[in-house]
Amino acid sequence: MTDSPVDPTTSSAWQALDGLAEGFSPDLRGWFESDPGRAERWTFQAADLTVDLSKNLLTDEVLGHLLEIARTVDVPGRYAAMIRGEHINVTEDRAVLHTALRRPKGGEGLEPPAPLVVDGQDVDHDVHEVLDRIAVFANAVRDGSWTGVTGKRIETVVNIGIGGSDLGPVMVYEALKPYVQPGLAARFVSNIDPSDIYEKTADLDPETTLFIVASKTFGTLETLTNARLARQWLWEGLAKSGAIADTDDARRDAVGKHFVAVSTALDKVEAFGIDPKNAFGFWDWVGGRYSVDSAVGTVVAVAIGPDRFAEFLAGFHAVDEHMRTAPLEANVPVLMGLLNVWYANFLGAQSHAVLPYAQYLHRFAAYLQQLTMESNGKSVRWDGSPVVTDTGEVFWGEPGTNGQHAFYQLIHQGTRLIPADFIAVANPAHALQDEQGDGGAVRPGADVHSLFLANFFAQTKALAFGKTADEVRAEGTAEAVVPARTFSGNRPTTSILAPALTPSVVGQLIALYEHITFVEGTVWGIDSFDQWGVELGKKLALEVTPAVEGDRDALATQDPSTKSLIAKYLELRR
Ligand code: F6P
Repeated sequence: MTDSPVDPTTSSAWQALDGLAEGFSPDLRGWFESDPGRAERWTFQAADLTVDLSKNLLTDEVLGHLLEIARTVDVPGRYAAMIRGEHINVTEDRAVLHTALRRPKGGEGLEPPAPLVVDGQDVDHDVHEVLDRIAVFANAVRDGSWTGVTGKRIETVVNIGIGGSDLGPVMVYEALKPYVQPGLAARFVSNIDPSDIYEKTADLDPETTLFIVASKTFGTLETLTNARLARQWLWEGLAKSGAIADTDDARRDAVGKHFVAVSTALDKVEAFGIDPKNAFGFWDWVGGRYSVDSAVGTVVAVAIGPDRFAEFLAGFHAVDEHMRTAPLEANVPVLMGLLNVWYANFLGAQSHAVLPYAQYLHRFAAYLQQLTMESNGKSVRWDGSPVVTDTGEVFWGEPGTNGQHAFYQLIHQGTRLIPADFIAVANPAHALQDEQGDGGAVRPGADVHSLFLANFFAQTKALAFGKTADEVRAEGTAEAVVPARTFSGNRPTTSILAPALTPSVVGQLIALYEHITFVEGTVWGIDSFDQWGVELGKKLALEVTPAVEGDRDALATQDPSTKSLIAKYLELRR
């Protein structure tokens, strides 16, 4: 797809929305009153996800124009091009095929018919070959047939990676903790701050620890530095306890039993000293932030087992199929992506909150930050021309109810428009009762998950409908504080409800946001699959390193601010 992007801003739909946005005066109370079917009409199903869009600042007229924009930029056509392997990542001349990572074996039951062959590669075959190898490895760790060099069972798997090679695995591991095999645990090292690896390994036994070095490029400074530190820690620990001799052979054997790798650059894996038979590959058509369903998810497959991992992939696939087949007007990722465009490009929203009412999703917002912002934080379109609208949104969030006691005040009563996605599951992993209650609203024996979800429902209600000054007065509030206690309402939210936080549902949620990101990127005409913006910082860090290490000549070449900061650092450094 090398054609120039369509400029949606010149379309009549865009101009109509511009007109509607001017002086737009939302009225969720009135809209619900005058349209009793609003909730039902704007509640949709994508696989197991029930998605209620009715509390958004949406009218039929607005929606009609948004859908017209989706047709103008041909969202369905571009999605079809993506999943059949066209090089829609034009700046890197690559296919974008994360959807192929979750196609059923042999592409069974799918259109286009199996096998999916892209650029001469039998993608289905290769994907499943790696998945099968991961399954064998995961089972061996889980059943104890894969041991450390001294014959002890592996108890802790430490994933070393950063960005997409960390955020996805750690988020999913945390989300699916109840499915983790007892006696096995995972940890995640990402930051090159030495405190990270120090803390994550301090209480571990090298004999029972396995490292997975996950790096698409196997050239990322943070990951390779941490991998070397881990190898050093392993060798020192094993030698100190007398578990291995201090010889090259013994060290090589130790690496063979305690290190595996995940990468697209298997030559570099070997150069690091990891046997290629202990490496799981993936391909350049998997973007880092779209890679948790590739071999990058190996740590998850070990922790929850290959069968659960297959369910996780099936969850993604169910939403891929929804994206592919649902008509635009009932297509959840399309509708959510278009709503984001409405808020960001017409109503001035700068950020978007994602608020999971599920503690196990506590890393979901952090994960989404990379997915959405690395994808859509762009100023040029895929043909190199400047963008014609604002792009990207700042995604952020924390699990409810913690967020309620932190930043919700600004969402409720601040001056900024912050659309928010609320995510909840009906069935908790642990159903607990508060046997005593509080003698008031919380009755003895209360189901705590219901108390929790009462907040989920109440918050979206309060945000939508607010509280008028008259309602505040009717509570006997002193007139002077009536304004402070009045809530305008009309604060938009989307509610996503799933039966439970199963592997499949976690896959569904990720795929949902991948496709929302895709829809927005398509409207904006940008390549959502490159990340050149990250490169400059990486390059400069390497250039600055000699100065930070005290090289006076290198220090002299720095700009005045950087020079004086580094000089201060060198003065403070003991
Ligand atoms: O942050 C830039 C980036 O390239 C991400 O896109 C990627 O997920 C991360 O670095 C890690 O890269 P790698 O997996 O190659 O180590």
